[in-house]
Amino acid sequence: MTQDELKTLVGQAALQYVIPGEIVGVGTGSTVNKFIDALATIKGQIPGAVSSSEASTARLKALGIRVFEANAVGEIAVYIDGADEIDAQGFMVKGGGAALTREKIVAAQSVRFVCIADESKLVKTLGAFPLPVEIIPMASAQLVRQFEALGAQARLRLKDGVPLVTDNGHHILDVTGLQIAYPLAFESQVNQWPGVVTVGVFAHQKASVCLLGTAGGVKTLNF
Ligand code: 5RP
Repeated sequence: MTQDELKTLVGQAALQYVIPGEIVGVGTGSTVNKFIDALATIKGQIPGAVSSSEASTARLKALGIRVFEANAVGEIAVYIDGADEIDAQGFMVKGGGAALTREKIVAAQSVRFVCIADESKLVKTLGAFPLPVEIIPMASAQLVRQFEALGAQARLRLKDGVPLVTDNGHHILDVTGLQIAYPLAFESQVNQWPGVVTVGVFAHQKASVCLLGTAGGVKTLNF
């Protein structure tokens, strides 16, 4: 099976976690796009969704799924999102699609985080995928130096030759050269550096379940 087919498989498998009558939290990315397409087939069973990005909002609305503001709803039962990396404890690196801040907000508002990923995302130790960090632009050079002090290299993410601007009006640093052995401590440490909006380690908001697309079918990992 191709990676795209594995994403379709887990996107469809995630439907079983959607609770009829309940608003569902929706993440961002190519795997989540498969889930949104599947969700459209049962849209009559739910009031709608809370979305983690402008891109997902546009896709949800185009398929006739109502989108609620996060502030307009209370606790969300289930949040469904992809990951750039996930380890055996359900800790993740996210933000390849630059939506990490809103993803973490909706994840924090949700009781269960269902991660949907193809098997290439399962890792022993987080850090091989460049770690996205959403930052306030004026802190960029200082934060690059702080990551250098950890032995890592941080680069400003560009789009069409200029710094990418997130849905929240910020920039993204992509950090290479890390081995994140202690994700909870690392997330807490980097999150308190002035100018960091959100670090793409999701340890405090880790997955409850991962639906992993493998050549042998969907494997369910419970954490
Ligand atoms: C977006 C994310 C995505 O969940 C992550 O990048 C995985 O994306 P994809 O499903 O396209 O591989 O964190 O900010």
